[in-house]
Amino acid sequence: TLTQAEKAAVVTIWAKMATQADAIGAESLERLFSSYPQTKTYFPHFDLSQGSGQLRGHGSKVMNAIGEAVKHIDDIRGALAKLSELHAYILRVDPVNFKLLSHCILCSVAARYPSDFTPEVHAAWDKFLSSVSSVLTEKYR
Ligand code: HEM
Repeated sequence: TLTQAEKAAVVTIWAKMATQADAIGAESLERLFSSYPQTKTYFPHFDLSQGSGQLRGHGSKVMNAIGEAVKHIDDIRGALAKLSELHAYILRVDPVNFKLLSHCILCSVAARYPSDFTPEVHAAWDKFLSSVSSVLTEKYR
């Protein structure tokens, strides 16, 4: 679980990210699909070319869910319950992919806010995204 200081760090940088959430979401997916092309197999029905409407729409949805998790940082499990069922029972996304996406989100944030991305903020976001990923993969069996 995150310490109070880590939660504060996540909330603070999210306040900046929220204004550019859609762009950050799209960039994170572009990084995911270009660095780890195997992740594209979950999206056979999408046009994944850079800047496509589907890619941007999906990036926006993902960042929206991240925003909900930030808003409910003391109850991430409750905030993402529906999404957890979707990823486990319906989409069946292999949990390794959550680490890859988390990494790509971190890269997008670091590239956009280099001076805010201190080692402390990096560590707090890494821990936060791990918590989100654990919630989204905990229904697997
Ligand atoms: C759908 C969030 C990780 C594959 C979604 C949706 C959200 C979301 C909000 C839309 C749900 C809806 O329309 O009701 C997240 C978050 C993640 C994450 C917050 C982790 C931080 C992943 C990963 C993969 C993945 C790692 C696979 C590489 C999918 C697919 C869909 C989906 C295939 C359905 C797309 C569609 O047909 O519209 N996710 N997701 N997700 N997600 Fe994730």
